[in-house]
Order: sequence, then C-alpha cells, then structure tokens
Amino acid sequence: MLGLVGLGLAGCGTRARSQAVAGQAVTGQAPAAGDGLGVLARSRGISFGTAVQGELLGRDPVYAAAVTAEAQLLVPEWEAKWDALQPREGEFDFGPLGIVASFAQAQRKQLRGHALVWHQAMPDWLAPALAEGPARARAVMAAHVEGVLGATQPVIRDWDVVNEVLANPPGSRFTEQTPARGIFRDTPWLRALGPDYIELALRLARERDRTLRLTLNDYGLEGDTPWAEQKRQAMLSLVRALLAARCPLDAVGLQAHLQVDEPFRPEPLAGFIQALRGMGLSVLITELDVREGANLPPGLEARDAVVAAYVQQVVGTALAAGCRTVLTWGLSDRDSWLLRDPDVVRRDGQQHRGHPLDAEFRRKAMWQALARSFAGG
Ligand code: XIL
Repeated sequence: MLGLVGLGLAGCGTRARSQAVAGQAVTGQAPAAGDGLGVLARSRGISFGTAVQGELLGRDPVYAAAVTAEAQLLVPEWEAKWDALQPREGEFDFGPLGIVASFAQAQRKQLRGHALVWHQAMPDWLAPALAEGPARARAVMAAHVEGVLGATQPVIRDWDVVNEVLANPPGSRFTEQTPARGIFRDTPWLRALGPDYIELALRLARERDRTLRLTLNDYGLEGDTPWAEQKRQAMLSLVRALLAARCPLDAVGLQAHLQVDEPFRPEPLAGFIQALRGMGLSVLITELDVREGANLPPGLEARDAVVAAYVQQVVGTALAAGCRTVLTWGLSDRDSWLLRDPDVVRRDGQQHRGHPLDAEFRRKAMWQALARSFAGG
C-alpha cells in the first residue's frame, strides 16, 4: 500500500492494467498521415516505445509532447534503477519513478521496468552489503524485489529482472573488458552468490508477482562478429540452463545499442531470435540507439542515411524473426546518453545522430526507417 501511495497511483491499479492490455491490441485501423511511431507500430501488432527521463517530462513541454506523440510504451532511463529506488538500505523512494508512472497513466502509455538487478546504478551501501556473504546478499535481493515489485505491480507488468549478466568476449568492440567467470560478467552479485544470483532474482520476482513478464536484458547480441556470436551462444546456453532448472523466464531483451561500424548480416540475428522463440520466449528490442562510425560521411543527410539503413536492417530482421516490441533509448539526439557518457561519446567533437528525432525534435531518416520496418517494408 505504501508503495502505491508513493507512486501516486493508489486505487488506479485495475484501470492501468486494462489499459495496458488494450495497448497491446492490434487496432486494425489504417494509420493516418502524421501518426507517431507508436500508432504506426500498433497498427501492425507491434509495440513501440522509448526510454524517458522523468525530470524532462516535468519541465520540457516539447519533450513531453514528442513522447506523447511517438511512443506507446515507456521505460524510465534511471528512475527504476536500484540507486533511485533504494538509495539507503530499507528506505525506498518511489518519487522519481512516480513522476514517470503518473505521466504514463495520464497519457495512457504502458510502462516497463528497468532494472531490478544490475552491476551499475548501485548505491554506495550495496556492494559492501553483498560482500558480507551469500546469506546477506540473498536477503538484500529479496528485500529489494519485495519492496519494488510490491509497489510497482499495478502499473509495471514487464521488468528487466536481471541486466547485463554476460561477460564481453575478448576482442569485443567494447572498451569495457570486465573480468569474466566463464560466460558471466564478474560483478558484486556474482562474487556474492555465483551465477545462481540470476536464477534467484527470477524466482523471487515470479514469487512476488505471478503474472509479471520476466525479462533478461543484455547488449552486444546483434552484430555479425565472432565475439557477438560468442555472446549469443552464451545467452542461449544460459537460457537453456535456466529453463532446464525450471526457472521462470519469459523474455530476452536485446538492448541494440548499435554501431554502424560493426558488420551486420540478418541470418545470425534472425537465427538467434528464432532459437529463443523456439524455447517459448518473447524477444524485445529494449534500448535501440546508434553510434556513428569512425569516418563520418560529409553532411548531415548522408550521416542520417547511414544510420537509417543500419537501423532498418537490424529492426527489420528482428521483426521478421518475431520480435514484437521495440524501444529506443530516448527519442531525440538532444537528450541522449550518447552525448554525455564517457564510454560512448564521440571523441572528434561531433555528436552521434543515433535517434529517430534530431536535436530540434524533427523526424529524421531513422524515424522513416522505423516506420518502414513496422510497415514490413
Ligand atoms: C544509461 C543511461 O542512459 C545513462 O544516463 C546512465 O548514466 C548510465 O546508464 N544499458 C542499460 C542502460 O541497461 O540502463 C544504460 O543507461 C545504457 C546501457
């Protein structure tokens, strides 16, 4: 009850749930000119959404209008991460998430959750607590799952329960070469509980909320490179092991933080998605954005065309293979982590143009590429 009050949604659970179901329905109506991506996608039975920043929803009407017009499904970029929700042990703060949830409810958007268990966005107290040993780590995880799902259950029906559990194979394009234990990323969770922490999180989530969609989310799974193939195989073996242990799991999220310099071919991605679907799982694109290449073509139009062509290949392939949900990690080039985060920002003074809208919120070639992909073209 406390959680619902905290989210500002007390008493609205039933309504929010029935809207969420309606939001998934195929309307059968031809989309009108000027419709946003969410409407275009929905007319084909696809759910399109974006990551949002609650702070911008509150103070920037242009941003809020773009989200309203383009997306059917929202995911908080930060507000549902651990450091936002439980900054001090035992003290939950649903204020920032409540802003996003209220916006979603007012605009009749679905909301997904990101991310219950992750090695980033950990508040200062968390890693030391996990280091105290397995019993303490289990208790901390159980308390977080209980506290968060207890509060968000009426409005969030799909959570990234565990995020980025796989290690980056050696030689991958990511600067981040975190140590690995087998296929797993070495994190405070892994050190405390071994790989079983993944299963534990999924089981706790299912116990707390029987009908929640449980998603395993990760990156670097899309390209046609040896290390992306290794990571796909690692994901498949993890999923197989989880299902063999009768661990609850409903979906795999492909983050799709794409890079146009990475080779792409449809077959490896399509085969991977089909393998997951063959095991009964849904596959979502959860965080689509694009980093441009080392050598930019001259002129914005040419740059945008390269990004759009890459997106259309990847998203078109995923949709053809049965993916039914696509979220971008932000809508416009203006507000993206691609402009701020030291790991992903360009070092040549240019700014990535990896979103459907430009910095002035005008639709770009990537917007058209998504629209065409949803239309099946
Ligand atoms: C990123 C946010 O966009 C940044 O603002 C923040 O500084 C770091 O996290 N994979 C994920 C997301 O699962 O949570 C990350 O979001 C981007 C990579």
